[in-house]
Amino acid sequence: MNRLAGKTALITGAARGIGLAFAKAYVAEGARVVIADIDFPRAKDAASQFGDAALAVEMDVTRQHSIDEAVARTVAHFGPIDILINNAAIFTAAPIVEIERADYNRVFDINVAGTLFTLQAVARHMIEHGVKGRIINMASQAGRRGEPLVAVYCASKAAIISLTQSAGLNLIAHGINVNAIAPGVVDGEHWDGVDAFFAKHEGKPLGQKKREVAAAVPYGRMGSAEDLTGMAVFLASDDARYILAQTYNVDGGNWMS
Ligand SMILES: NC(=O)c1ccc[n+]([C@@H]2O[C@H](COP(=O)([O-])OP(=O)(O)OC[C@H]3O[C@@H](n4cnc5c(N)ncnc54)[C@H](O)[C@@H]3O)[C@@H](O)[C@H]2O)c1
Repeated sequence: MNRLAGKTALITGAARGIGLAFAKAYVAEGARVVIADIDFPRAKDAASQFGDAALAVEMDVTRQHSIDEAVARTVAHFGPIDILINNAAIFTAAPIVEIERADYNRVFDINVAGTLFTLQAVARHMIEHGVKGRIINMASQAGRRGEPLVAVYCASKAAIISLTQSAGLNLIAHGINVNAIAPGVVDGEHWDGVDAFFAKHEGKPLGQKKREVAAAVPYGRMGSAEDLTGMAVFLASDDARYILAQTYNVDGGNWMS
């Protein structure tokens, strides 16, 4: 299939996990991808599997200079940016009485400010070049409902759903569609960390939390990064031209809204 033929996509946090699966799916659909990540060695390693279709860029979404540099390097290498996926994020968890301000600031700096100011930089670029682009933000089922031990991460993902609405409504005036994907529980290194946290805080053996969340998914198992790629391709394709400001659950039936 060539649903994204000739398109250039900048994907943050794409050195591993869901972002890397998106890069792979986009290349398979004919796009060129920039794998932008704070972990540059891993981004380079990931990009090497796609040959000329990918470029690795070192990017820290908390630093404005780094955001601007990633945009400039993408444009210099591949030309105007058609698609942005704001995927970089970190997970944190703690009981309310143990939340530390520094941890809150770090999570909001990466997950929320990182998404907003990368979106802003790419939107400015798209407007300047007359690109009717697509922006996809990574939300989460955690943004749909609070969880007792996950207040900060949940709040950061609720902010992504809200930012997607505001940016979607604002940027459609320039022909830019902004939407979000809300995954449920997706197995990988991110969830290895979540599982380890619950092992520590709830005294569960390692792997137990994963088994519990998997059993609770109506579909019957945790998701894989590849389970999300269909939605990421669809939202970037012409078939999604009339869709904006939405957050789509791709979670095996965990959440309905
Ligand atoms: N895995 C899940 O179950 C799940 C569920 C819901 C939502 N999500 C969301 O999907 C997205 C991808 O999740 P994942 O499971 O692939 O996560 P992951 O932790 O495996 O990958 C995140 C990537 O972001 C990069 N990153 C971290 N800080 C960065 C920064 N400051 N600048 C640039 N890059 C940075 C990391 O190096 C890493 O490569 C995230 O937004 C996450 O919140 C994941």
